Amino acid sequence: MELVRNTNLSALLVLLSCFCLQFGSATDTITAAKFINDSETIISNGGDFKLGFFSPPNSTDRYVGIWYAEISVFTVVWVANRNNPLKNSSGILTISEVGNLVVLDGQKKVLWSSNLTNSVVNSSAQLLDSGNLVLQGNTTGTFLWESFQHPSDTFMKNMKISTDVRTGKKVQLTSWKSPSDPSIGNFSAGIEVRNIPEIFIWNDSNTYWRSGPWNGQIFIGIPDMISVYLDGFNLVPDNDGTFYLSFSFSNDSFTTKFVLNAQGNIQQTYFDTGDDHWGIEWSALNTDCDVYGRCGAFGSCNSQNSPICSCIPGFEPKNRKEWNRGNWTSGCVRRRPLQCERVNNGSDGGKKDGFLKLTKMKVPDFTDRSSAQEEKCRNQCLENCSCVAYAFDAGIGCMPWTGSLIDLQKFSSGGIDLYVRLAYSELDKEGNVKVIVTVTVIIGVIFSGICIYLLWRWMSKQKGKMHLPLSQLTKIYEHREEEEMGDDNHGDNVNQAKLEELPILNLQELASSTNSFHQSNKLGQGGFGPVYKGKLSDGQEIAVKRLSKASGQGLEEFLNEMVVISKLQHRNLVRLLGCCIEGEEKMLVYEYMPNKSLDLFLFDSVKPKLLDWKRRFNIIEGISRGLLYLHRDSRLKIIHRDLKASNILLDEELNPKISDFGMARIFGGNEDQANTTRVVGTYGYMSLEYAMKGQFSEKSDVFSFGVLLLEIISGRRNSSFYACFQAWKMWNADNIVALTDPIIREPCFEMEILRCIHVGLLCVQDFANDRPSVSIVISMLKSEIIDLPLPKQPAFTERQIAPDASSSQNNLSKCSINNVTVTMVQGR
Ligand SMILES: *[C@@H]1O[C@H](CO)[C@@H](O)[C@H](O)[C@H]1NC(C)=O
Ligand SMILES: *[C@@H]1O[C@H](CO)[C@@H](O)[C@H](O)[C@H]1NC(C)=O
Ligand SMILES: *[C@@H]1O[C@H](CO)[C@@H](O)[C@H](O)[C@H]1NC(C)=O
Ligand SMILES: *[C@@H]1O[C@H](CO)[C@@H](O)[C@H](O)[C@H]1NC(C)=O
Ligand SMILES: *[C@@H]1O[C@H](CO)[C@@H](O)[C@H](O)[C@H]1NC(C)=O
Ligand SMILES: *[C@@H]1O[C@H](CO)[C@@H](O)[C@H](O)[C@H]1NC(C)=O
Ligand SMILES: *[C@@H]1O[C@H](CO)[C@@H](O)[C@H](O)[C@H]1NC(C)=O
Ligand SMILES: *[C@@H]1O[C@H](CO)[C@@H](O)[C@H](O)[C@H]1NC(C)=O
Ligand SMILES: *[C@@H]1O[C@H](CO)[C@@H](O)[C@H](O)[C@H]1NC(C)=O
Ligand SMILES: *[C@@H]1O[C@H](CO)[C@@H](O)[C@H](O)[C@H]1NC(C)=O
Ligand SMILES: *[C@@H]1O[C@H](CO)[C@@H](O)[C@H](O)[C@H]1NC(C)=O
Ligand SMILES: *[C@@H]1O[C@H](CO)[C@@H](O)[C@H](O)[C@H]1NC(C)=O
Repeated sequence: MELVRNTNLSALLVLLSCFCLQFGSATDTITAAKFINDSETIISNGGDFKLGFFSPPNSTDRYVGIWYAEISVFTVVWVANRNNPLKNSSGILTISEVGNLVVLDGQKKVLWSSNLTNSVVNSSAQLLDSGNLVLQGNTTGTFLWESFQHPSDTFMKNMKISTDVRTGKKVQLTSWKSPSDPSIGNFSAGIEVRNIPEIFIWNDSNTYWRSGPWNGQIFIGIPDMISVYLDGFNLVPDNDGTFYLSFSFSNDSFTTKFVLNAQGNIQQTYFDTGDDHWGIEWSALNTDCDVYGRCGAFGSCNSQNSPICSCIPGFEPKNRKEWNRGNWTSGCVRRRPLQCERVNNGSDGGKKDGFLKLTKMKVPDFTDRSSAQEEKCRNQCLENCSCVAYAFDAGIGCMPWTGSLIDLQKFSSGGIDLYVRLAYSELDKEGNVKVIVTVTVIIGVIFSGICIYLLWRWMSKQKGKMHLPLSQLTKIYEHREEEEMGDDNHGDNVNQAKLEELPILNLQELASSTNSFHQSNKLGQGGFGPVYKGKLSDGQEIAVKRLSKASGQGLEEFLNEMVVISKLQHRNLVRLLGCCIEGEEKMLVYEYMPNKSLDLFLFDSVKPKLLDWKRRFNIIEGISRGLLYLHRDSRLKIIHRDLKASNILLDEELNPKISDFGMARIFGGNEDQANTTRVVGTYGYMSLEYAMKGQFSEKSDVFSFGVLLLEIISGRRNSSFYACFQAWKMWNADNIVALTDPIIREPCFEMEILRCIHVGLLCVQDFANDRPSVSIVISMLKSEIIDLPLPKQPAFTERQIAPDASSSQNNLSKCSINNVTVTMVQGR
């Protein structure tokens, strides 16, 4: 009995508390009947945000606003009647007869309204857990109005800042006048699309700060962005030309927001629950240099210098007196006219202009954009008289500038290289004593270097032929490896290299087999030197890769290749037969591949016909098996880092073999990712994280594989991240025909081809984690995995393709096809 009564009581309690909770949770909405007065608030369903009346510090005015409910520091994120405060506590927030959300004063005068154009019956306002206040009609799900579309000074998770490029309509932040006055201040911040989207802060209508162009991952004018934001930000256009900026961090319990404060600075703050205060994570403006155009036209700002402004090389202050007084507004002017100006002035043009490289720069405002590759970008700029500078970014492409260069800044880290056009005479000689002294010193050093070298040569001749033992070579290799990798101990794996197992071939034999390295035996140019065809005395055909003596480069790659490939054996990897190291000659000997490399077949105008779909699929499969062996099945984990069509060799049956391990990296057992400061590889095949941050892993090889796969199917070269975006777009629009080489377009293979394209697109996704591993790729190709996930849209910002006057053929090739691949390694 006692027991029963107890249960009854607790049941009653539960019922009661349920009732109370129900009552409480119902208060996230406002209707015409259920309005709120000055002393009441509503709270979002999950309890994160509150809406009600408040007064800012040092003020008695009353405002309707939204603030964090669970944070001990009172923090307002949105204000309704910013410009029309209530003077006493007799205000109410309600729904008007026509369905608007309104703030009324004691006299029922409307101080603020959501200003709907059409009247709605029985609408209600609800405060959502994201902090968004939404107005709904009788149909739920569609919002008639939302506070996220009318932000105050705060940008939060789930919010979107946007700009419609056609209408100019912006959703942007506006600052408060002061911390005690929420009325609309002088500063606003939003997206501006001048060919490339950027974030701007304006002081009234004047630019006050800019972020630099968005490259698909980061804003390249924010030097510390890489470390802080890479995963967080997203800036994408929709199909109607509206650009949206949003952010999200993987850690949901991290409360963070961006605020445009009354001084015009955007600050990212996070709430530190330990200390109960908002800590500053990042600020847009940190130094005087961050103010837009601080140093005027052609002036460059460096906060580490004093004074902070200087003219860029080849330029001088327009008004020296003003400049020396620290008034930099009139900027700098060119000292020596460019070739075009000289020609126009009647005098003879003389020598061509050149470019001066400025490193770690915030690039100037008002850039154009073209799809040209780096080398073409330079030539395009040189050929156009109005082009004064250019820069190249992997995510954006070519950026030329005309007119004045405004808002230049030199960073101590981050930024990109800017090439400024100067007259030949500026580049030729600086006319400077310092330079002459430096040159003299350098010549001296070189001269003594030559003397020492000759002496050393003479001495080694005395000792007879020099043989550099393998053990010593590997030592040099290890040393270099460590240098490149910094503190990491990657060299360890290489230490154990059992190079002695590799057959050593004799130089004379190789020379005679290749007809003394005769030009007619040359097969091509490999990573670090020419490759010759040879025939050993026993009749075996070989390919001899000879490290070119002249360049002095490539020793590292040579040793790397020797170390890596000597341990590998797989039918889809090219086989190393031996090596030869005698004196200064260093050579690697491979099995001979009669059909040379894949690119010759794919991109040639005659040969693609030999590659029907069956053969292509066989090649795709072979490459993936070779790659799987590298990544997983060999005793070591090896990242190739330079997978591309010209590194895939074909044997007599057109079976693919991966070659050129000059860049490959051996990973330790439990490592999956590494960084390098020296980004090597081929542009177009490089993943974003590798090209931009030097991070490589299995997934960067998967990216290159994806590009290769798309190339094999389309029969066209891939030249940029944009091409991947294009492919994604066409695939999404079901335009498979445009993605497929006409030669393989046969209905019976359509499904298989479609599947391959799908896999290729999964491999070229922006985020490494989204890409499948090679073993999954193989299962997908073999249809062992039936349901493939949808490839995510590349974050690449859509470029506006301007009508190209030059030629229609050019137009066609503009985005995805390019006949040049540039290998981004110094001196290659
Ligand atoms: C607000 O409404 C509550 C209940 O409806 C009432 O108790 C309170 O006095 C009102 N406050 C003001 C300032 O009118
Ligand atoms: C409010 O006034 C006090 C005293 O004048 C001042 O110290 C404080 O900074 C003010 N607070 C704000 C937010 O303006
Ligand atoms: C509040 O102010 C309004 C005018 O803004 C006035 O009409 C009303 O009487 C005031 N109410 C109180 C309680 O002071
Ligand atoms: C609503 O419209 C009125 C009159 O056109 C205008 O004064 C007011 O600023 C508008 N309110 C908002 C929140 O846009
Ligand atoms: C919703 O309201 C509109 C008018 O605002 C009315 O025409 C429509 O019939 C209503 N729908 C429902 C389901 O009540
Ligand atoms: C509006 O709400 C009232 C009260 O809930 C209800 O009587 C009326 O029918 C509703 N009107 C419409 C058009 O739904
Ligand atoms: C805002 O701009 C106006 C003129 O454009 C100026 O008078 C005012 O002082 C500025 N306010 C602030 C807070 O800078
Ligand atoms: C904003 O512009 C106003 C006038 O245009 C100027 O007085 C003020 O100093 C500027 N504010 C900043 C922070 O530069
Ligand atoms: C998420 O953020 C909270 C608060 O800043 C922190 O305590 C927690 O460790 C973070 N979790 C992860 C997985 O980073
Ligand atoms: C700086 O120079 C400009 C252009 O000559 C002039 O208009 C401006 O008043 C000067 N500013 C100061 C602070 O002297
Ligand atoms: C053109 O040449 C004349 C005479 O050499 C020189 O005075 C003038 O500054 C030149 N003009 C330009 C724009 O270089
Ligand atoms: C030079 O570049 C500008 C800006 O990019 C462009 O408008 C102009 O057409 C170009 N001129 C030539 C001759 O290509």
